[in-house]
Amino acid sequence: MRQVMVAGNWKMNGSSDSIKELMAGIKDGLAAISKAEVVVCPPAVYLPRVSGAADGTSIKVGSQNICDEDSGAFTGEISANMLKDVGCEYAIIGHSERRALYGESDDLVAKRFAAARRNGIKPIFCIGESLEERESGITNDVCSRQIDAVIALEGVEALADGVIAYEPIWAIGTGKVATPEQAQEVHAFIRGKIAALNADVADGLRILYGGSMNPGNAKELIGQKDIDGGLIGGASLKAEDFLAICQAAE
Ligand code: 13P
Repeated sequence: MRQVMVAGNWKMNGSSDSIKELMAGIKDGLAAISKAEVVVCPPAVYLPRVSGAADGTSIKVGSQNICDEDSGAFTGEISANMLKDVGCEYAIIGHSERRALYGESDDLVAKRFAAARRNGIKPIFCIGESLEERESGITNDVCSRQIDAVIALEGVEALADGVIAYEPIWAIGTGKVATPEQAQEVHAFIRGKIAALNADVADGLRILYGGSMNPGNAKELIGQKDIDGGLIGGASLKAEDFLAICQAAE
């Protein structure tokens, strides 16, 4: 049985005060959540504070990015070891905003995935197609290519007990959510692709959906056979909404 995961990607939002309030709100509602694994991914500067606040609770902490190198002259980057040092268990890798706005290629994303794993950080590996790619009918090809870069570098076993987040770019921050059927179709494709290489890995792989997930649509999305949770942007910034999505995952 795959444990459902609900992960909040706070992106570049928040302040010391708002984050304190958000963490307090999430902690207040945790008692009602027994099944979902709850993860929060704050901006890097707030990681120590957030992992301190999460201490002693079931909340796991993740970063929004990771460097592909382990130390040295890489100005502005943060290594997997440092993230581990401040209490991160997970790292979002290859988010479409990093691919599109900061030029992260499939190969670089694969190297970042490898850096996370070799240092004991669990990747939340993001993939997904643009609207243009969807309309051209190449959604599966794009997802395949993104996954293949990781498999080529690390082998399919690197996805054992792993987490992939399928985030169609056209659904991110747009309010235009994929229908449960549209999402399920891609999730099933992803699992099938991995199963063709290793059935056990495919079976244990959690595939999250991300893109305008909210308390109103979470239940139906997460209810799909191959959707094992969500990677939430906007709705993770309000404790009430984030908790409602965690509840929908129950
Ligand atoms: P929204 O939930 O705001 O659409 O963002 C999704 C996302 O990019 C999570 O990583």
